[in-house]
Amino acid sequence: MDIEIRNFIEADIAGANRLEREAWPEDVQASSEKLIDRYHTFAAGFFGAFSSNRLVGMASSQIIIHPDESRLVSWAELTADGWISKTHKASGNCLHFVSICVEPGIRHLGVATRLNEARLQAAYELGLKYALTDTRLPGLRGYLEANPDVGPEQYIEDVIAGAASEPVVEMYLKFGFQAVGLIPNCMSADAESSNYGLAMLKVLRP
Ligand SMILES: CC(C)(COP(=O)(O)OP(=O)(O)OC[C@H]1O[C@@H](n2cnc3c(N)ncnc32)[C@H](O)[C@@H]1OP(=O)(O)O)[C@@H](O)C(=O)NCCC(=O)NCCS
Repeated sequence: MDIEIRNFIEADIAGANRLEREAWPEDVQASSEKLIDRYHTFAAGFFGAFSSNRLVGMASSQIIIHPDESRLVSWAELTADGWISKTHKASGNCLHFVSICVEPGIRHLGVATRLNEARLQAAYELGLKYALTDTRLPGLRGYLEANPDVGPEQYIEDVIAGAASEPVVEMYLKFGFQAVGLIPNCMSADAESSNYGLAMLKVLRP
């Protein structure tokens, strides 16, 4: 598939609204106002994937000060529940991956991989030291239902060992991110992930 990756422009916002509703479960979709807030706050970290000029994937980010690893911070807190104009710090040292999604009909074809390459390239060009993502765990609820005697920590161990499949975590492991720790109440209303997230960090330079 012929895909162009480029930074968002204002005219892409309408497509972003459509894609957000197609790609995310209803309870975690960002409002149009939040998408506009992300674009206006840090357009240099907001990328779109286009197929024949149609938006088929998008990834947003912000700059933060790398949080102390002894206190894991939820996505909701790091982003003020998705309003990054309240949390973006241009003078920070860490690119925080705010959101990524791809149209359901063209998943597992490498579109998110290209969007993440673009975000990491932006982080290197900005001279940032870290990239941080709080990944959703959409396979966790099903895993806990099927394995009622174990907890989410076992799920992460199984995913890292390849004994359970969690595409989003696997994607970031392939990019060299390392799991830092589980975050309860990571993103409100993310029922598929049982409200857990996984903090994953990549060190970009010494
Ligand atoms: C997560 C998401 C963005 C991945 O997009 P994508 O374009 O399908 O991802 P890619 O094709 O680049 O795949 C990257 C890696 O992710 C994993 N992966 C993606 N889809 C997978 C699937 N259906 N089954 C197993 N692994 C999968 C694989 O490790 C894959 O690498 P590989 O192709 O070398 O096997 C997409 O599924 C999505 O939009 N989901 C809904 C929104 C969401 O949950 N976003 C993540 C928030 S943290």
